[in-house]
Amino acid sequence: MLVYTKIKSVEQKIKSLKKEASIGFVPTMGALHQGHISLIDIAKKENDFVVASIFVNPTQFDNLEDLTNYPKTIDKDLTLLKSSKCDLVFMPIAEGIYNNNVQSQHFDFDGLEFEMEGKFRKGHFNGVGTIVKRLFEIVKPNKAYFGEKDFQQLQIIRKLVDKYKIPIEIIGCEIFREKDGLAMSSRNSRLTKEQRNAAPFIYNTLKQAKVKFGTKNALEIKKWVEDEFKKQPLLTLEYFEIAEEETLQSIKKHDLNKKHRAFIAVFADKIRLIDNISL
Ligand code: PAF
Repeated sequence: MLVYTKIKSVEQKIKSLKKEASIGFVPTMGALHQGHISLIDIAKKENDFVVASIFVNPTQFDNLEDLTNYPKTIDKDLTLLKSSKCDLVFMPIAEGIYNNNVQSQHFDFDGLEFEMEGKFRKGHFNGVGTIVKRLFEIVKPNKAYFGEKDFQQLQIIRKLVDKYKIPIEIIGCEIFREKDGLAMSSRNSRLTKEQRNAAPFIYNTLKQAKVKFGTKNALEIKKWVEDEFKKQPLLTLEYFEIAEEETLQSIKKHDLNKKHRAFIAVFADKIRLIDNISL
């Protein structure tokens, strides 16, 4: 497995491959878990050469404490990537990839950026858009893989390639869950034992919300979820929304012609967990 930190080395390698090999790309912020590895596995099946990047992107953090505490497990990450037969790992440094100007570009994602995460994490999607666009320019993959846990991010990246006419196919991959249903996340490693035991409540609530979607309207379900979380001392609900998948606009009632998802963000003390379910 090749491990590069320099943009030039990645660009040269990609240039030498591009004519005869298809390239799959899995961008990450490290602290890898089985969810990330499942993306590598899918990319391996669909491409000749797979690139992963590890970069904790400072501009997408609205909260300095979250950035500072973001888990860093580089040695373990490289071992995992090697055993999953990833071909190249790109680990840029911030000054290099941002050309000595660590700031985000401003994007118009047709309003997707103002819903849910956008309301609670100011500037987050400008940071994501900036780094993903830059990584795409360097790696120039045929296909790029993103987990559906960050469904809003996935839709925003689809919008990004559409608006900038970037010739990359964006593949959304199913959420990878622990046995008890908790969506895999790098932040799970920061949970205390008690918080970890409480956390499956998030997905259990989503599953019950899905059942209720057959008979109750979105506002009733939202109120029910809010009441359920009031009974949970270790978890604080930040938001629960039922939204249409394309526009991410919250809905009031079921439209049978559209696809809907329930989205949730929860705090376990200072650790923020998100999840969603297709309805
Ligand atoms: O989902 C993530 O890990 C990050 O947001 C991404 C896409 C790697 C951009 O920094």
